[in-house]
This record gives sequence, structure tokens and C-alpha cells, in this order.
Amino acid sequence: MDIENAKHIGMASAYEGAKILRKYFGKLTGVKKKGAIDLVTEADLESEKAIIRTIHSAFPEHSILAEESGLNQGNAEKQWIIDPLDGTTNFAHNLGIFAVSIAFSYMDEMTLAFVLNPVSGELFTAEKGKGAKLNGFPISVSKTQKVSESLLVTGFPYNHPEIIDAIMFRFSRFTKAAQGIRRLGSAALDLCYVACGRFDGFWEQNLHPWDTAAGSLIAQEAGARVTDFSENPYDISQKEILATNNKIHQEMTGLLVYKETQ
Ligand code: IPD
Ligand code: CA
Ligand code: CA
Repeated sequence: MDIENAKHIGMASAYEGAKILRKYFGKLTGVKKKGAIDLVTEADLESEKAIIRTIHSAFPEHSILAEESGLNQGNAEKQWIIDPLDGTTNFAHNLGIFAVSIAFSYMDEMTLAFVLNPVSGELFTAEKGKGAKLNGFPISVSKTQKVSESLLVTGFPYNHPEIIDAIMFRFSRFTKAAQGIRRLGSAALDLCYVACGRFDGFWEQNLHPWDTAAGSLIAQEAGARVTDFSENPYDISQKEILATNNKIHQEMTGLLVYKETQ
């Protein structure tokens, strides 16, 4: 496998997606609902097509798992995992916090990651074992030692009514314990912001593989610890994600404990 070529194509496809998102930002005409509050726009669909076209023109045999079109099964050892617009609700409200998120998994290992915010121009990248970068410069997690000195971020999944008690219990606990809590609306950017030290920790439930595939590699390569809420190693099929600067990880897993009867 020519990883350098995959890197080149992955980055090119992220810029192709970003070009489409910039074209539609502030000018959307079609917003549809996939669920009660889960939106899809022409920008999501066109961005995904442009990304897949770029990848498939270089690697026609590779598998693709993309949010809007699902799984296109090819060579399973070489799979691209794509969120063409992470932060659709922000996008639909003209709020510039969103990103294209693309990861490449090789032989069942997340190997390359690209998260690009077309508004800020920030491109976060990572390669397994070779660190994470922001616009080409190495990044690393914060050194904050305690939750009481931390700025944390979380998100609420679209099916939040089903798990609202657990979500609000945890949100309330961290609001009391931390210096501050943010809810930005793009899990990919949340993870990248942990990677570059803007946030000290991020937690969320019920995310999908395309939300976290790229961001979790970027965070890990920047020195983050990424697990589920019980400290089991994270993989993208899991329903819980906790990414921290490592130093506050155990304090956060302690605060995440929730029992149905609470
Ligand atoms: C959503 C964002 C959001 C998170 C949701 C995701 P989408 O992705 O990452 O931050 O809270 O759970 O579904 O739908 O904008 O691609
Ligand atoms: Ca997403
Ligand atoms: Ca999306």
C-alpha cells in the first residue's frame, strides 16, 4: 500500500468536500429531515459525492463507508470512512462550526485522518504512529491536571430523548466540577480541539463511526487517551467515547458513572 499516495488523495478529497461546503454556506435552499431533528442538506450530499469521486478515481477497489450513502464494499482491508459535513445543524443555521471528516483504515487499523473546517481553514491531520498536525505543525494535548481546571466539551446525539436522563445527569455533574463546558455541534472538531489542547476532555454517547474515525486518530496521535466510559479501548463501533489529555481521564470516568435508578 502506497501510504504517501493515500495521504495525498485523502487531503485532496477533503479540499474537494470543503469547496462544496463553502459554495453552499449561507446559501442553502434545500434542508430535509432524516429524523425529528436530524437534517440533511444538498451540501451534505454534494460534498459526499465529490469526496467519493476523488477517492474512487485514485483507488477504485477501496471500500467506502460514508454517512449519506452507506457502505460501498470493495477491498475490506482498505476502507475510507467519510462524514461529508460534520455539524449539519450549525451549517443549516449559518454557524461556521463544521468540518469535512475523512479517515483511512488499512488492515483494520485507523491509519490516516483529515478534518478540515472550510470556514477557518484549519486542517487537522494524523498518521498512525507519526503524530498529529494542524496546518502542517505538530500539535499535542493540554497538560491540565484536574477537572476543576479544565474546559470540557460534549455533544447531544439526535436520539437524545431516549437517553436524556443520563445525558443531563452527566452534563450537570461536569458543569459543577469543571471550569467550563462547551457544546459546539461537531464531534470531529471537538476531538481535534482536544488534540490541540483547546479542550482538556470530550465525551459523548451514540455517535456513528463517521463522526469519530478521523478525530479519534488525530486525538490519539496528539497524546490523548480515547476510551469508552469504562476505560475500555475505543473503537469506532462503540456507543460511548471519552477523549482526554490523559491526565484527567480517571477523574472523568469517575464522574461519568450513571446508574438507571439515579
Ligand atoms: C453530529 C455532530 C454533533 C453530535 C451529533 C452528530 P452531523 O453529526 O457531530 O456534534 O452531537 O451526535 O450526529 O449529523 O452534523 O454529521
Ligand atoms: Ca457527524
Ligand atoms: Ca454529517
